[in-house]
Amino acid sequence: MAEHLLLVGMMGAGKSTVARLVAPRLGRLHVDTDEEVEREAGASVGEIFSTRGEAGFRAQEARVLDRVLAGEVPAVISVGGGAVLEARQRDALRQGGTVVWLRARPETLARRVGRNARRPLLATAADGPAAALTRIDSERQPLYEEVADVVIDVDDLTPDAVAERVLAAASPGEGRR
Ligand code: S3P
Repeated sequence: MAEHLLLVGMMGAGKSTVARLVAPRLGRLHVDTDEEVEREAGASVGEIFSTRGEAGFRAQEARVLDRVLAGEVPAVISVGGGAVLEARQRDALRQGGTVVWLRARPETLARRVGRNARRPLLATAADGPAAALTRIDSERQPLYEEVADVVIDVDDLTPDAVAERVLAAASPGEGRR
């Protein structure tokens, strides 16, 4: 199994955007677990949630994560925000390489998440997206903390600045050209 670079954190933290910036700088492929789930299922995240429920989505996400982490070529992986919910997956993430938590305040997340069909947990939240983000964030903070090797507070940073910190923190030397 290769030593991957894994970006974790809440919806809206910027994992996919930052992974897209970091991957070419490291000469690596970027893999996004939501995209992989959609490709394997032949359906969007929203469709999977509505036909198979969150449990169906999580089962598919777990299979994708196992497959992606088993890849022999080191990749930059943006990991769907809820992949840390199961202890088995947290173990797999920890063993998969360097895990970077992009941490943001719920207010920052609420500002950043638009209407996005990949985020049914927010779209369907009875308490509304901003309250849902606060609630989900407080449930998950200890889980992100458990898997993270590196924590970056992204609230006041541009995606480029976050990418620089990811490169510096995750692979000293490699990120400097
Ligand atoms: C989820 C995050 C989403 C997607 C799904 C569930 C979550 O991915 O996997 O909507 O539970 O936090 P992003 O973190 O890329 O938005």
